[in-house]
Amino acid sequence: LNETGKTDSGAAVIIASKKPFLQVLGGGTTARPPIWLMRQAGRYLPEYRATRARAGSFLDLCYNPELAIEVTLQPIRRFGFDAAILFSDIMVVPHALGQKVWFEEGVGPRLEPVTAADELDRLSYDGFEQVLGPVYQTVAGIARELDDSTALIGFAGAPWTVASYMVEGGGSRDFAKAKAWAYGDPEGFQRLIDLLVEATVRYLSAQVEAGAEALQLFDSWAGALPERALRRWCLAPAMEIVRRVKQQHPSVPIILFPRGAGMLYRDFALESGADALSLDTMVPLAWARDRVQSEVVVQGNLDPILLVTGGEALRRGVLDILETLGSGPLVFNLGAGIVPSADPQHVADLVELVRGWRA
Ligand code: CP3
Repeated sequence: LNETGKTDSGAAVIIASKKPFLQVLGGGTTARPPIWLMRQAGRYLPEYRATRARAGSFLDLCYNPELAIEVTLQPIRRFGFDAAILFSDIMVVPHALGQKVWFEEGVGPRLEPVTAADELDRLSYDGFEQVLGPVYQTVAGIARELDDSTALIGFAGAPWTVASYMVEGGGSRDFAKAKAWAYGDPEGFQRLIDLLVEATVRYLSAQVEAGAEALQLFDSWAGALPERALRRWCLAPAMEIVRRVKQQHPSVPIILFPRGAGMLYRDFALESGADALSLDTMVPLAWARDRVQSEVVVQGNLDPILLVTGGEALRRGVLDILETLGSGPLVFNLGAGIVPSADPQHVADLVELVRGWRA
């Protein structure tokens, strides 16, 4: 070990970590799976709603290090998860590239749409680092606050998912505009994807430099694309991002969430270069064990609605995952983000179930 407590070999750093989450991602084993939950900071927590009200707009909260650090730590204090995830949003990247972004109460993100290649020159790196500076300050502040058993996850949206919001001007049911561009002008759409690959590599690398110990790339809408398009617009850009971030930071584990990829989860496991795949709720557990966990660490995949209902259905859902995936490398998580109507008591019950499990 050198004076910073790290060895020269990246893998050794991770396995030697005291943090169970990093041990599992580094290929080590722990008595029981570490646990954190996607969107663990959010409206289901009264303390989040109180801080959110002080911040002003949602983007103001994302760019306020003091308050963003506070909401990141709220679920850690309450539940003692094995990892904290930076509080921010995937929309800060298009915003930092100069696109107009705002959040509408009860609707979600809204953007001034970019619909064709000749509009791409509206986007630039001129203000990129300045806009994202507060996010890196947040990362550094969280890193200072965490104890030596809790890891810090940085994140970004994957190019296809972020592009879909940029092109549609917000959320979408059918992705008609984004697909029309991708299918009708693939070279032009590739320029948007390439721009997002570059921006995402810069953004994730800067998070690592500020103190993020692992990264997650959210491709929440991968499942909207058929095979050929999914390989080109989701798998290939993810490979490129993983390769380039690891070139700069070889020891940082990367988790990929190609939500809805179905049987192509196997191809992501074999080809993406990611250390772990986050499974959505639809992936069958035994298939995931045999075809995905055989290649990479898996994370997931409890139905978030079980945290609304709780009780026996929650217990059964948790045990199904632990009994099928718990003997291999597993990070316990949800198969999608937590919902605002989740009951914090059921989240506490979930943590107790996972922590109390014996393989
Ligand atoms: O996980 C965490 O606790 C960290 C914070 C985080 C947020 N968004 C905060 C947030 C993370 C990791 C995200 C990722 C994100 N954001 C994704 C990918 C993951 C997923 O859930 O599919 C996507 C698609 C977005 C875009 C986005 N942001 C949408 C569609 C919405 C509206 C829906 C909603 O949940 O309100 C948001 C807003 C948002 N991002 C909120 C939070 C806590 C709620 C906003 C509020 O407090 O008013």
